[in-house]
Amino acid sequence: MKCYREYGSIGAPMELNVSANQNINGTLVLPLYEGCDSVPESCEAGMPNSLKSQINRVLSDGDFKAKKKSTMTLLGGEDGKVILAGLGKSDDCTSHDFRKAGAAVTAGMKKSHGSELTVLFDNAGVANMGAFAEGMMLRDYSYDNYKQKKDDDEEKTEVSVRITCSEAEAEELTKLVAQYKGICKGVHLSRDLGNCPPNDMYPEVFADMAWEWAKDFDNVDVTIINYDQAIKAGMGGLVAVGMGSARKPCMVIFEMNKHVKGRCPLLVGKGITFDTGGISLKPGANMDEMKYDMGGSATVFGTMEALAQTGHKGKVVAITCMAENMPSSNAQRPGDVITTLSGKTIEVLNTDAEGRLVLSDGLWKAGEFDPEYIIDFATLTGACVVALGHEATGLWSNDDDFRTRIHEAGNEVGELAWPMPLLPAFEKEMTDSKIADTRNLGAGRWGGANTAAAFLKQFVPNRGYEKDGEQITWAHMDIAGTYWGSKTNTMVKNGATGIHVRTIHHLITKS
Ligand code: BES
Ligand code: ZN
Ligand code: ZN
Repeated sequence: MKCYREYGSIGAPMELNVSANQNINGTLVLPLYEGCDSVPESCEAGMPNSLKSQINRVLSDGDFKAKKKSTMTLLGGEDGKVILAGLGKSDDCTSHDFRKAGAAVTAGMKKSHGSELTVLFDNAGVANMGAFAEGMMLRDYSYDNYKQKKDDDEEKTEVSVRITCSEAEAEELTKLVAQYKGICKGVHLSRDLGNCPPNDMYPEVFADMAWEWAKDFDNVDVTIINYDQAIKAGMGGLVAVGMGSARKPCMVIFEMNKHVKGRCPLLVGKGITFDTGGISLKPGANMDEMKYDMGGSATVFGTMEALAQTGHKGKVVAITCMAENMPSSNAQRPGDVITTLSGKTIEVLNTDAEGRLVLSDGLWKAGEFDPEYIIDFATLTGACVVALGHEATGLWSNDDDFRTRIHEAGNEVGELAWPMPLLPAFEKEMTDSKIADTRNLGAGRWGGANTAAAFLKQFVPNRGYEKDGEQITWAHMDIAGTYWGSKTNTMVKNGATGIHVRTIHHLITKS
């Protein structure tokens, strides 16, 4: 079996170090604001004269305007090569622009730039320098594990980057960069899982990977609930979706720092390793993209990796609901009524609305851990992509303040999650089945992302599973438009984006 450790990209983000030594080794990277017409004074120390005058000529001629995300390479100089990186106008430049500039540098890296880079900033401050480094590392990813021969142009040399700063900043920046390195490993793991082809990424493989991964950390436990155990436990949603496939479903539970007392965050992920639609078969066009339908589970696993790598000390639990949605003689049918872990029944009117079925069991199971809050991640609906395109994740919650916290955490790290409504009318629509407690399909096709969220709410337990108790704080994030296919996400070239590992790491550790 292939696993991410053999694949290579995980665990090996570009080598990036911080030092207060201003010597330029290898290619110089110079981030600049718009309107800058000569090398900033603070960057002049240690810069050979010929290099400085080469850059000054380009800047004074107005040949590099330093627009946001732009880069220009100067080759052929006597004293080395330069990459100029645009930050846009200084008065509206944020750490997001520094992150994007860093990513643009990595995106533009060619063999001709060599294997060593030195970045010189003009009094940018620790947060901005850190963001630049983060952008460089996040963008340093491509999924070519299945390519025998790499495209010559694209063939990458291992690059080592040195970020230079003042003595006074070195300690703080070193810590920040180490933190971003750990988070970046989580993002890259999420991408690796998502990009892996569905013949090699199926429920059992995901579970094995989680199991193997946990061996590296003495504060993480992984429990796998296999198919037989899921049947016995009464996980009717997970079982119904997965039973039509030869690759049987399972639930994977991650527990970090489980001995820490008190309530903790709990993450739930939709993990459909391939979604054919089942008997309600999807059309053929672009069906290959349904390998990304385990993006929710990848987000959850990636977030656990980010937390583990950054030494998080708090308790966190994650539950992923893994299944392959296949049409077969063993598959569930439209018209079936299933009984979920909660005891609630679902009339399955469309087998392609399967994410909500597996999540019904994952959400209900979450109640056992008496969490502070539950957040689920799912590539749940095409309707969410219609509503928000590839620009923002849909965000629903039963608690307005909690929804705002997640929205703000997303804004902080540059991953947009947009507030969407949980309306009683949608709940009514999803609970008016003639023969069951709920139905997995709305009455019409309108508001499909909202009806899906309203359906999920039916399976969020009350505290202590008390009949008339208070429902646990919960948020639902529909990443159907943001987990892959975003052209404007400059942190990634193509394929899985690894979105929201950073948002949730920030939410859990900083807010
Ligand atoms: N995995 C899909 C949602 C999806 C579709 C994500 C396209 C990204 C791009 C999900 O399981 C699904 O098929 N949902 C249906 C629900 C419908 C049958 C109520 C959909 O969105 O069409
Ligand atoms: Zn589906
Ligand atoms: Zn799906």
